[in-house]
Amino acid sequence: MRIILGRYLGISPRSIGFDYGDNGKPFVQAYGAYPIHFNLSHSADLAVLAVSDRYELGIDIEEVRFLKEDIAKWFFSRREYQALRSLPADRYMDGFYRCWTRKEAFIKAHGAGLSLPLDSFDVTFDRSAESRLERLEGDTGAPANWVVLELETPINFAGAVVASTGGHRVCLRYRNEGIGQLVNLASRT
Ligand SMILES: CC(C)(COP(=O)(O)OP(=O)(O)OC[C@H]1O[C@@H](n2cnc3c(N)ncnc32)[C@H](O)[C@@H]1OP(=O)(O)O)[C@@H](O)C(=O)NCCC(=O)NCCS
Repeated sequence: MRIILGRYLGISPRSIGFDYGDNGKPFVQAYGAYPIHFNLSHSADLAVLAVSDRYELGIDIEEVRFLKEDIAKWFFSRREYQALRSLPADRYMDGFYRCWTRKEAFIKAHGAGLSLPLDSFDVTFDRSAESRLERLEGDTGAPANWVVLELETPINFAGAVVASTGGHRVCLRYRNEGIGQLVNLASRT
């Protein structure tokens, strides 16, 4: 992470100073005129780092594993749980991991970590629906401000990136840095 961020900042990896938000979200101290936003996720032997020079973001990647319990009942909002239960059995796992990674990427982008109640917001996850934040308790403008993007992953992984763009349209640019996958948030317009 230091090596990649060092390239972005044009400084030596060792000289990067990290700070942490109240709930543990790491960020780099400002260098020069440009801020840099980043977020890291790792699962199994894969790591992904999302970077943006404009928008606060969160990323999540998960290895798809067989679920022994009804985890969605405890972690998803009621609306998400109902939507998941209405999926045909062969789309359940896909739906579960899409929902999980989108929720996780949202709490990581938000920075509140697990202090943000998981039932205080809804994300879409059905393949046929546009990927978006549908609701955030106490913030009616949130769905228009947050962008939810699906991450291209190797087989048997699922992933998402969420960013607070204030309505600007963005897309992902991928770079394989040898030491992990790097995801850049780029403006679409
Ligand atoms: C810590 C947490 C932010 C991410 O946990 P995770 O999914 O297990 O781990 P990830 O690999 O995606 O992310 C870890 C990285 O996120 C970063 N991170 C740590 N705290 C963070 C925070 N509050 N916000 C954003 N990023 C954070 C760090 O860079 C960390 O890297 P490190 O483990 O090498 O220090 C937190 O969301 C958590 O504990 N989640 C538990 C899972 C859960 O209940 N999910 C429910 C989803 S429905």
